[in-house]
Amino acid sequence: MKPIPVIFVGGDHGEWRVERILAIRGASLDPCASVSRIEGTVEHAPGVWALRGVRTHERYTHLAEHDQLAVMQPDLGRQSSTCAVLIPLSKSEAWWQLSQDERREVLEARSHHIATGLRYLPAIARRLYHGREIGGAFDFLTWFEFAPADRAAFDELVAKLRGTEEWRYVDREVEVRLTRDR
Ligand code: HEM
Repeated sequence: MKPIPVIFVGGDHGEWRVERILAIRGASLDPCASVSRIEGTVEHAPGVWALRGVRTHERYTHLAEHDQLAVMQPDLGRQSSTCAVLIPLSKSEAWWQLSQDERREVLEARSHHIATGLRYLPAIARRLYHGREIGGAFDFLTWFEFAPADRAAFDELVAKLRGTEEWRYVDREVEVRLTRDR
């Protein structure tokens, strides 16, 4: 796919209200009242902070996983999805020094990231953006949307991933919990 730019703007008013901002590892983000996710442009309103990324091709999925994702992944913007979570994160130099094969080995063969994540579809809608290639503040900006009834499932998924070998390479991670009206 052709890369699509994204900007997450933390500010005073926007589509999503901030419930809380939690530093999981490393420095947090400055407090703000709302977050907007703006895809397809590099223009944005001024805010407390702005995080840039690009939506781009998959790096690690095998064909069967890619096909399964295509079938099971819901779209963003479902009316019932009044909860969202933005998790910007970066990985250590040790991660980036691994070969592509070794990274896949850690991410999937040993940490089961994709297999675990697939079990939470279609309850959780997701989108992954890359920031590293464009000199963004974070290597990745990850975005999730779900209904209030699926909060516990999301918490369980995040806890599982944070306990994996893959997450030992995460050196900065912030969790921004958001809600919006129907
Ligand atoms: C909702 C279920 C989830 C599914 C189905 C899922 C699936 C995937 C897949 C398929 C990839 C590989 C993309 C590629 O080939 O480049 C990926 C990467 C990634 N996911 Fe997830 N994921 C889920 C949840 C999460 C959560 C909750 C987090 C954060 C806490 C997360 C963070 C990431 C990151 C940072 C990457 C990029 C890893 C890298 O390139 O080093 N994912 N995910």
